[in-house]
Amino acid sequence: MFKITVYSVREVEIPLFEKLNKDNFELNLVSEHLSIKNVAKAEGSDAVLVSGGDDTGKDVLEKIASYGIKLVYTRSVGVDRYDFAAANELGIKVANVPNYSPRSVAELAFILGMTLFRHVAPATYNTHMGDFRILPEYFANEIHDATVGIIGAGNIGTAEAKLYKALGAKTLAFQRHPDSSNDAVEFVDMDTLLKESDIVSIHVPYIPGKTDNLVGAPELAKMKSSAILVNTARGPVVDNEAVAQAVRDFKIGGYGTDVLLDEQHVMDKQFYTLDGVPNQIDKDLMKNYPNVIVTPHMGFFTVPAVTDMISTSFENFKSTIKTGKPIYPVER
Ligand code: COI
Repeated sequence: MFKITVYSVREVEIPLFEKLNKDNFELNLVSEHLSIKNVAKAEGSDAVLVSGGDDTGKDVLEKIASYGIKLVYTRSVGVDRYDFAAANELGIKVANVPNYSPRSVAELAFILGMTLFRHVAPATYNTHMGDFRILPEYFANEIHDATVGIIGAGNIGTAEAKLYKALGAKTLAFQRHPDSSNDAVEFVDMDTLLKESDIVSIHVPYIPGKTDNLVGAPELAKMKSSAILVNTARGPVVDNEAVAQAVRDFKIGGYGTDVLLDEQHVMDKQFYTLDGVPNQIDKDLMKNYPNVIVTPHMGFFTVPAVTDMISTSFENFKSTIKTGKPIYPVER
């Protein structure tokens, strides 16, 4: 039987792994994120299945290869944690799940955007402190009169644009290679998007060395001082320090994020107070700025998305066994 060691399996996902295992793979389900400390759990398997929070750096891949395992697939869309040079050198194949329910992340991005656009985040912060005044800073526009800018109009960005469009918002998008058949957005250049949008939402992959700090000080300076920035992509695609400065200086209206820089140090961890959060900038923003909201990288965490992640991963393995190739190979 083909044995797969699967890392980062949450309790609620176990029944889905069991139900979707139509090909009777032998599954070794591990709750922890893959790291050098627990990589030995994969020994004796034919393949490893990871997720976006797992360490697939050189040391870990070398260990996996030393067990004779050549397939290290992920059920995430993002592959930024892989050391591709090491994978190539070790002859390790990588595959991902590029198209799981895009509404999962799109809906969360939309909710973060709307929550800040209508000033619900500072208002609830204040009411929960006992302050029920209707403060002038809660005075809002309505979304049908607003413009939303999507940076990266792939599956997720387009799904988010459709949500806003359904409410009557104008939807702009910036994409290096615009898809002319995409009628959910109007493609514009980056400067126009930044200048005109009331909400700017980022949906670009993080490719280390290529998409770092895509939204930094120059981009933030072009945004409206009331505009909301939303990041459900990856922490490093924004310049964290520049975003923090823009929030502190009231240069933007708010920041909603599901992803953090150096996320591996916080993902799935519980700190008993904010003081335990290692990144000083994130800590300061969460402590002092109610117009900053942070969720714990939960965009993907819906029943349809996790179902797709598992079933497509199984399809990737099935195809590899049959044809030598996964359905969604990732080569770099
Ligand atoms: C991805 O699919 O790339 C994600 O960001 C979700 C992952 C952490 C499970």
